Amino acid sequence: MGWGVRALVQPSVGGPGVMGVGDVAVPVAGVGEVLVKVGAAGVNFADVMQTRGTYDGGPTPPYVAGFEAAGEVVALGEGVTGVAVGEHVIGTGAGAFAEYVVMPADAAVPVPAGWSDEEALGLVLNWATALVSLRPLGQLKAGDAVLIHAAAGGVGQAAVQIAKHYGATVIGTASAAKHDVVRRLGADHVVDYRTADLVAEVRRLTNGRGADIVLESVGGDTFRRSVEVARRVTGKVVVIGAAAGEASITNWELNFKHPVHVIGQHLTTTIQQAPELFAQVLAELNELITAGVYPPGRPTVYDLADGPKALQELEARATVGKIALKP
Ligand SMILES: NC(=O)c1ccc[n+]([C@@H]2O[C@H](COP(=O)([O-])OP(=O)(O)OC[C@H]3O[C@@H](n4cnc5c(N)ncnc54)[C@H](OP(=O)(O)O)[C@@H]3O)[C@@H](O)[C@H]2O)c1
Repeated sequence: MGWGVRALVQPSVGGPGVMGVGDVAVPVAGVGEVLVKVGAAGVNFADVMQTRGTYDGGPTPPYVAGFEAAGEVVALGEGVTGVAVGEHVIGTGAGAFAEYVVMPADAAVPVPAGWSDEEALGLVLNWATALVSLRPLGQLKAGDAVLIHAAAGGVGQAAVQIAKHYGATVIGTASAAKHDVVRRLGADHVVDYRTADLVAEVRRLTNGRGADIVLESVGGDTFRRSVEVARRVTGKVVVIGAAAGEASITNWELNFKHPVHVIGQHLTTTIQQAPELFAQVLAELNELITAGVYPPGRPTVYDLADGPKALQELEARATVGKIALKP
C-alpha cells in the first residue's frame, strides 16, 4: 500500500486553528506494530497541547495529528502475536486523525464484543487512565471522599462512574453549564471552581477532613488548591494533567505544610514501564464492562475535516465528554 489517504496535518505550533486536511501516504507497520483502518479517532486534551508544542515528548511539526483510534487491523508488522488481521482494536498510535494509523501492538486492546469502534473510544485513554489513577495508585476504597477535576470531561466522566461504583463520595468540579451532566453520572456534589472557594467548599463537604483522593488534571493555580484540600497524612493527589499550565510544590511544603502524597501518572509510561499493572487494569475494566458499570461510549462525532473546530472547542472548555472524528 502507498496511496494517499486523508489526514489532519499540523503544520506548526500555532494551535488547533492552523491544522488542516492533507494527503499522506499509508503508514507501514514496523516490528511489533499493527496497521489499523481507522473507524473512529478519539480527541484528547493532549491533542490540543501538541498543537501548541506544550506536550512533553510530543511530535515536531509538520505531523499527522491525533493519537487515539479504534478500527480494523489490516496488517501486522514483524513479530506481532496475539492480534489478528480483521480484529477491531482500540489504542494509541501517532497520526490517528487519518484513514489509517500504525500502533504498537502492546497498546492495542480488543474492541469489546458487540461494541462499535466509536463506542470503544476512551477505553484506554479515559477509562484506563481513571482506573489506574484511582485504584492501584489512589488506593480508592468505599467511603473515601474523591475530588475529580474536569468531571464532565472525557477522563472525568469515567472517573466519576468508577469512584461511585467503588463506594466513594464524589465531589466533581466543572464549569456551571456542565453540572447536570456530572450529577446525572452520580456525583454527590459539583463545584463551579470559577466562582466557588474550592478549598473551603471541599473542607465543608468533608467535615474538615479533606479529600482522600484528588484526581488532578488542571494544574496551574488549581494544583495548589488540590494539595491544600487533600486529607493530611493519608490523602493522595494523583497528577494526570496540566491543562492550565505548570505548578510546583517544595519539599519544605510537603514536609511541614502539606504532608500528603503527590503521585504522578502518565498512561503511555504505565503501558511501557508497568505492563503487568496495565494488564491488571484492563482485566478490571472488562469486569466493569460485563457488570454494566462501564457502558458503550457515546461520543460527540465530527467529520475528520471538522477536527480543528473540535480541538478549538476542547481548548475553550466548551465540550462535554468524549469527542470522536470520523475519517
Ligand atoms: N496522564 C494521563 O495518562 C492522561 C491521559 C488522558 C488524559 N489526561 C489529562 O486529563 C485531562 C482531561 O483530558 P480529556 O482529554 O478528558 O479532556 P476533557 O476533560 O474532556 O477536557 C478538558 C476540560 O478540563 C477543564 N479545564 C479546566 N481548566 C482548563 C484549562 N485551563 N484549559 C482547558 N480546560 C480546562 C474543562 O472543563 P470545565 O469547563 O468543566 O472545567 C475542559 O472541558 C487533561 O489534563 C489531559 O491532559 C492524562
